[in-house]
Amino acid sequence: MTDSAHHSHPEATGFHKLLKEGTQALHDQAEVGEFQSRMVHGDLARSEFASFLTQMLHLHQAVDGMYDEAAAKDDRFASIYDPKAHKRTHLIQKDLEDLGVSDLSPAFETTQAFVNSVREMLDASPISVLGVLYVKEGATNGNKFVLKRIQSALGLPEAHAVGYMDPHGMEQRKRWNQFKRDLNELNLTDEDQNACLEVARQCFQMFMDISACVSEHFDRQHSAVEPG
Ligand code: HEM
Repeated sequence: MTDSAHHSHPEATGFHKLLKEGTQALHDQAEVGEFQSRMVHGDLARSEFASFLTQMLHLHQAVDGMYDEAAAKDDRFASIYDPKAHKRTHLIQKDLEDLGVSDLSPAFETTQAFVNSVREMLDASPISVLGVLYVKEGATNGNKFVLKRIQSALGLPEAHAVGYMDPHGMEQRKRWNQFKRDLNELNLTDEDQNACLEVARQCFQMFMDISACVSEHFDRQHSAVEPG
């Protein structure tokens, strides 16, 4: 994003700094990816947005439950986790209804591989699931802005298909600032912190892989209906 978007923010510190700096290169890569760039420039087909949201549904149907499990197993995760605000399955289901999607395409291999990997990490170290929550909460910053472009490009009515991209609405900025403070209050060992960072990195990579797959499927479907 532009410098001005970062202007008023104080320097990151503590555990938040580790997560931010440890994923910065991946963020830079994700932000300029083909799919994300087209999202920003409003050059996205409705079926692509639906396909992306369908993958997010498969992801959250697994991950929302893993958040609950991590909270039951680790008080530190429980202290930062807010089930009402952080679960996304019900929001994505409504988004897909808004888009008129009833027939869901299956999970991509990369989506399933990520879910399997988080499952393994959860079993070994419940706190590591925080890496997913960090990426999901952090991404609300950019998604809020990207959503406006998508809505105008697809001509969607104002409150349609906003749940996944902008789950917190007017509360987004406040929530993100609080989340960063909460991250730094957690009592984590170096090992815990590194496990969270590892999952956060995997989460970024999965996003990029899913985005590439959505574009690829769309191109293939498109060339299949082109005459000649
Ligand atoms: C069009 C693409 C994107 C734009 C324009 C964008 C924009 C932004 C902006 C402006 C911030 C800074 C917010 C702040 O410091 O208060 C931010 C933070 C963040 N974004 Fe993105 N983003 C994009 C894509 C993504 C993607 C694809 C992901 C992950 C899947 C992601 C994850 C994050 C995370 C985790 C943070 C928090 C960084 C921190 O700890 O301060 N972003 N993004």
